This record gives sequence, structure tokens and C-alpha cells, in this order.
Amino acid sequence: MGVYEEHVLPRIINFACGVKQARPLRERVCAGLRGQVLEVGFGTGHNVPFYPDAVERVAAIEPSQVSWKLARDRTSASRVPIERSGLDGQSLPFPDDMFDTALSTWTLCTIPDPVLALTEIRRVLRPGGTLHFLEHGLAPDEGVQRWQHRLEPLNRRMLGGCHLTRPILDLVRTAGFTPVEVDVFYEEGAPKPMGADSLGIAKSA
Ligand SMILES: C[S@@+](CC[C@H](N)C(=O)[O-])C[C@H]1O[C@@H](n2cnc3c(N)ncnc32)[C@H](O)[C@@H]1O
Repeated sequence: MGVYEEHVLPRIINFACGVKQARPLRERVCAGLRGQVLEVGFGTGHNVPFYPDAVERVAAIEPSQVSWKLARDRTSASRVPIERSGLDGQSLPFPDDMFDTALSTWTLCTIPDPVLALTEIRRVLRPGGTLHFLEHGLAPDEGVQRWQHRLEPLNRRMLGGCHLTRPILDLVRTAGFTPVEVDVFYEEGAPKPMGADSLGIAKSA
């Protein structure tokens, strides 16, 4: 990994993910999290202030050492114990049925095999557990989709493999989840190709 990916990119992501327009979305996606929580793609911990009181403990999965360090102020101020418990959402170091709820925000775009990661999340969620997700992906409109396909190669190169055209709800269903509450919208203040979001909850059968 080069200097850009290791040191510069986590700082860019920390800045981009820290925008104040994201806060109400983070609050919405975190609502209802409870008990033992798995957060995949923890980044620099921007969801931490929005964990509800019912959250008892968070297992954070995050490959970037620099992001984990940049998260320190948020993790140390947290009421909830947070432990960095793994490096890759595609291979989770936990037994089956361990978590009550799981959280993924703006991460399925980057994980090389998102269905594998979602299948792993489903495996470690107890039956009836829920995945709370807020992800950008393939836009609902064809005109925006065309731009997404044009921009994707550059976006992937510049932003650590971040895809623009992943069909988030299809991926969630392919991994065996049932989406139960979903909102699809363009994020305020973001260019449409990068800000076609799906926010929702998916149930593990
Ligand atoms: C755009 S950032 C989002 C960070 C955070 N979820 C947020 O909302 O601020 C994507 C994150 O996914 C992480 N990531 C990349 N590949 C991953 C993988 N295979 N497993 C888990 N996380 C991964 C990146 O290091 C980065 O922190």
C-alpha cells in the first residue's frame, strides 16, 4: 500500500464523512441499534455519537490503522465500549449468532466482495437480528447511472476502490437479508452520482 492509500486517503475520508449534512442520516440509521453491535467499516468513528442507549458493546471492523487512530477522540469519549475486533468484513472472526444488530455506513462501496461481507454479517447476527445500512450505490435514474458508469474507474482509483454502481438492495437480498424499511434518495449537498443513498434496515431470517 502506498503513502496515498495508507496516510492521505484516511484523512480525506475522515473529512468527507464528517460533514454535518451526514449527521441526521447517521442518527436515522443508528436508531434501533441495541445490545451487542457489529460495525463494519468503522472508519474514524463518525457514528459513535449516534449509538442509542440500548447499545451495550461495539465490535469495530476496520482495516485502516490510520483511521482507527483518527477515531481515538470519538472512541475514548464513548459511553459504549468499542473494540477493534477485525480488519476485513469479508472474514469475521466471530462465531455464528453472536450479535443483536449490525451497522454499515458508506462501506459496501469499497469492500471487494460485498455479498461475501453481507453473508458474513448475516452469519454472525442472531436469528431475527437486524442490519442497519446507509450506503451509496447505483442511482434510480438512468441519466445519473450513465454518469456513474463514466466516473467509476476514476472514483475507484482515487478513493481506495470505492464503486459508484453497486445495486445495494440487490446485494442485501442476495446475501439472504430481507429489507424491511428502506429509503432511497439523493444526499443533500453531494453530486448525484456519488450521493444516491439507500438507508434502511434488513432482517436476518
Ligand atoms: C467511506 S469509508 C466510511 C467509514 C464510516 N463507515 C463512516 O460512515 O464514516 C469506508 C470504510 O470502509 C473501510 N473498508 C475498506 N475495506 C474494508 C473491508 N474489506 N472490510 C471492512 N471495512 C473496509 C475503509 O477502511 C473505510 O474506513
